[in-house]
Amino acid sequence: IAALGLWAAFGYLLGAIPFGMVLARVMGLGNLRDIGSGNIGATNVLRTGSKKAAAATLILDGGKGAVAVLLARALAGEDAAQIAGLMAFIGHCFPVWLGFKGGKGVATFLGLLLALFWPAGLAACATWLATAVVTRISSLSALVAAVLAPIWMGLLGAPQGVALVMALAALILWRHSANIARLRSGEEPKIGKK
Ligand code: G3P
Repeated sequence: IAALGLWAAFGYLLGAIPFGMVLARVMGLGNLRDIGSGNIGATNVLRTGSKKAAAATLILDGGKGAVAVLLARALAGEDAAQIAGLMAFIGHCFPVWLGFKGGKGVATFLGLLLALFWPAGLAACATWLATAVVTRISSLSALVAAVLAPIWMGLLGAPQGVALVMALAALILWRHSANIARLRSGEEPKIGKK
């Protein structure tokens, strides 16, 4: 149990690194809180106009979820991997460094899912991409990918991970409540638009 607690702390601290915020600051793109949705994720970094910074944010935010899972699994097994992945996601959404006001967890979710069970991770990325191609709306793509992810886990052969992925999907839906309101009123911007 003590070891699992350590993996939880490791996952949280890794997930709590707000890469988007740091990159935007370091690259002189401004304060993400004053841009677009005010969110710290890749979608909002793209609204600064820098595709490079947005791609780097996506990779680093996804990477921290994947690294948390892979490292915990390699050193401590599957339970530790699940806890580290969950806590990386929690760290991204509620980082102590930003007064617990963090992101919406989509990139971190996709990264940890790829590491946890890659077939479901790939299916979730494909779901996001397909929805994005059709609708050009990042939040809607995330919502569809999140809702379908537990189903991919079950269908593609990882029933032991369905509960965790369901919990993460529920958190993603909750973190997108402002986006859902904008989607309902037709005010949600397309990818790359302010
Ligand atoms: O990953 C977050 C995305 O789903 C929505 O981002 O900035 O449009 O609220 P944003």
